[in-house]
Amino acid sequence: MLLNERYIGLMSGTSVDGVDAVVADFSDEKVTTLGHVYMPFTAALRAQLQALMQSGADEVERAGDASVALAHAYADAVAQLLANTQLAAIDIAAIGAHGQTIRHRPERGFTTQLNAPAHLSELTGITVVADFRSRDVAAGGQGAPLVPAFHAAVFQGEKPRAVVNIGGIANVTLLPAKGSLDTVRGFDTGPGNTLLDAWCERHTGKPYDAGGAWGAQGHVDHKLLAALLDDDYFRQAAPKSTGRERFNLAWLDAKLQNQARDIAPQDVQSTLAALTARTISDAIQGSGASACFVCGGGVFNLSVMRGLPVELQAQSTAVLGVAPMHVEALAFAWLARRCFASAPGNVPAVTGARGLRILGAVYPA
Ligand SMILES: Nc1ncnc2c1ncn2[C@@H]1O[C@H](COP(=O)(O)OP(=O)(O)O)[C@@H](O)[C@H]1O
Ligand SMILES: [Mg+2]
Repeated sequence: MLLNERYIGLMSGTSVDGVDAVVADFSDEKVTTLGHVYMPFTAALRAQLQALMQSGADEVERAGDASVALAHAYADAVAQLLANTQLAAIDIAAIGAHGQTIRHRPERGFTTQLNAPAHLSELTGITVVADFRSRDVAAGGQGAPLVPAFHAAVFQGEKPRAVVNIGGIANVTLLPAKGSLDTVRGFDTGPGNTLLDAWCERHTGKPYDAGGAWGAQGHVDHKLLAALLDDDYFRQAAPKSTGRERFNLAWLDAKLQNQARDIAPQDVQSTLAALTARTISDAIQGSGASACFVCGGGVFNLSVMRGLPVELQAQSTAVLGVAPMHVEALAFAWLARRCFASAPGNVPAVTGARGLRILGAVYPA
């Protein structure tokens, strides 16, 4: 009998926009995407999850309720995915479910992804692999980013390349030329879309700046940009990872207050796009990468994309045959398979862990 090599990956990132679900076939060491479903969170679930990103009253109760709601949202995405691809639960080896990060404190030994894998397994009848990050953190690592091993598996080329994921937080993977894996590097560069989304929502009521068009009406304020860049995180050497506990509206408001002058909202938005682009560029320039491939929702923000230096020739990962919104979810399908194969999923040079570790906990169907 042929080994079942079909895995589902579920990713809901720091943008808290919804869940990207993919089913992939990994037969013959190739990655074939059989289907993709994007399900936005309901406004209620989005609010519930966002509220849990800061300390507050009754957190344990609220986290419990939110995890169960999340499992139902994930299960709906899986059901839709199976219907679209005419596959059944039995056709799937496992689901890799990242969960929703609500707190990321690797320096204190923990990173918390809300998830209810037991519920998800009950609801879908499929084995679930969850909790991918905590083992790397226990081994002294950042637990993030975890996508570089997958990027290396699918995106390595003849020459060094950079792969950038622009989600709520942005992360970069620096891939050496084919054949040498031990020099893969990667880290979170800082805010991707999270500040852009929050500022856009405050001033326009829309959850994100479609195409970057609103920000494009403004101009980069170079004094503000310099102030935003003046944060220890950007000076810190890798391995490093970050989250919304650092880069949020309170952080931006404090920076704006220090400016003690009025800056038009569109100019702030334009400057935030420049901040994302600049911190990504700084991570890549000097690395030897001759090409740059971008995934995650930030690829659709043209203000961010235009801010990347022309010599990097940033293009969507679509040109490599992988749609930009599939990449992260595929990575968690791939990591679930690694867990099943008892193969490590982290890159210690990226996360800073003491060594290679098998990532994830299994909830059998
Ligand atoms: N058409 C678009 N124009 C500009 N930005 C977009 C567009 N579509 C998605 N985005 C951005 O991408 C984000 C979602 O990206 P995603 O890769 O799912 O991030 P995460 O992994 O953090 O959930 C949205 O919050 C938004 O900022
Ligand atoms: Mg998302």
